[in-house]
Amino acid sequence: MSFMTTRQFPTSRLRRMRRDDFSRRLMREHTLTSADLIWPVFVLEGEGQREAVASMPGVDRLSLDLLIEEAREAFALGIPAIALFPVVSKKLKSELAEEAYNASGLVQRSVRTLKEALPGLGIITDVALDPYTSHGQDGILDEAGYVHNDRTVETLLKQALSHAEAGADVVAPSDMMDGRVGSIRQVLEQEQLVNTRIMAYSAKYASHYYGPFRDAVGSAGNLGRADKTTYQMDPGNGDEALHEVALDLAEGADMVMIKPGMPYLDVVRRVKDELRVPTFAYQVSGEYAMHMAAFENDWLETDEVILESLLCFKRAGADGVLTYFAKRAARLLATS
Ligand code: PBG
Repeated sequence: MSFMTTRQFPTSRLRRMRRDDFSRRLMREHTLTSADLIWPVFVLEGEGQREAVASMPGVDRLSLDLLIEEAREAFALGIPAIALFPVVSKKLKSELAEEAYNASGLVQRSVRTLKEALPGLGIITDVALDPYTSHGQDGILDEAGYVHNDRTVETLLKQALSHAEAGADVVAPSDMMDGRVGSIRQVLEQEQLVNTRIMAYSAKYASHYYGPFRDAVGSAGNLGRADKTTYQMDPGNGDEALHEVALDLAEGADMVMIKPGMPYLDVVRRVKDELRVPTFAYQVSGEYAMHMAAFENDWLETDEVILESLLCFKRAGADGVLTYFAKRAARLLATS
């Protein structure tokens, strides 16, 4: 009796389609392009200024003149938008964060100049008070040191309006106050700024992956042992993210975001499946730092891992990713 005649071959051979590059490419479900990338940048006062961020190798804080040149390259690489974060000098920080809505503040000036130089590049601004408060929290504190929701929203409105008036294409509230999206939408409508988009950081978790960012914008020192758990979400929660997203959409958000990224891809998938709206994810500073540490030690292959990490956001359902790797990834995509 032949052994072969009794042996059953596998009924499915999934390896057949993996056999050659042509069939692997044909069956690929998700792809990454430069149009999926949003590049977060840190802007400094001054001219010709470039400062490295120690915990984010390869990321620099740039003065506006240098930022424009870098943004021009990003635009040429097909990156649709940049997200602007200011490094605010200590002397402009205060309890009530008045600098946040200064019409000629660093962000407002940067937006005007960037839109003039590169009208086709989308400019996203961060609406939150942490770069401007002397204590580093995202809002206005009450007598007990608690971030007061409605007083904070009042200030966020002024900040969002000043960004939109400067020409920001998208305002992105990252503060997690209740009701802020609806209030911002109402003010924008009243001021006839009907096309200013709102990208809501809807499900923003109280994460310890933000450490390097707080170094980059210089809020870490003021914040001390950071605790934003009275407004940012508990990493143990998933349903609550859907609730937050649904509220922000009802209040007038055009795009929603989940943040951080890689440890929260299940949330991205749930949001996309349940709400089917433009959904973004932020591969945050700590995720960037972890990758860079591994790359610098030759523990991981740099280019391959960057592209894999970003493609996985697409598979999870994200329409786009905010990532400090944006330019590097776009360059790789242009040559691959
Ligand atoms: C501030 C803000 C933070 C980030 C974006 N906007 C930090 C925080 O909430 O403490 C984090 C981005 C990153 O870690 O890359 N509202």
